[in-house]
Amino acid sequence: MVHAVYPGSFDPLHNGHVDVIRRASRLFDKLTVGVTHNPLKSTALFDIEERLAMVRESTKGLSNVDAESFEGLLVDYMRARQAGVIVKGLRVISDFEYELQMAHLNRQMNADVETLFVMTATRWSFVSSTRVKEIATYGADVTKLVPPATQRRILERFGALQDDVPG
Ligand code: PNS
Repeated sequence: MVHAVYPGSFDPLHNGHVDVIRRASRLFDKLTVGVTHNPLKSTALFDIEERLAMVRESTKGLSNVDAESFEGLLVDYMRARQAGVIVKGLRVISDFEYELQMAHLNRQMNADVETLFVMTATRWSFVSSTRVKEIATYGADVTKLVPPATQRRILERFGALQDDVPG
């Protein structure tokens, strides 16, 4: 049984993430979405429980996918869960440099774990949580970029959307 973990901060979950989850769920027996705090990203919008709820609601139809939060090093979490594969999403080449560094470091810390990359669909290649947060903060519409579970929470947080945003 191959158990894979798709780790990230998912603050918030967007359509690119959901696309990677769908693709990876077809490749592995079990896929756990591991939600954690990334100390490099200091401005969290949603707390971990809210992010977990977004992932769970958005992956309801995928029977081999679950979601869990973790703290500390990813490689330690992988060991604790006896999971052998880290899944990372790639949008553009610049993602790869950052991801390659992490993959090598994770391999150095735990040689039993492989990192596999899944490319997002082209249509989501420009979507990032940081930009979704930024757009939402200005009260503009992110409906096309995020699943309904995220959209609802953004609306709750920022109130009604402006309807005069082009495009
Ligand atoms: O969605 P993100 O914020 O780009 O995901 C980054 C994440 C959470 C996967 C990465 O920061 C991580 O693995 N954090 C856990 C701590 C850890 O293991 N750090 C060492 C990485 S070499």
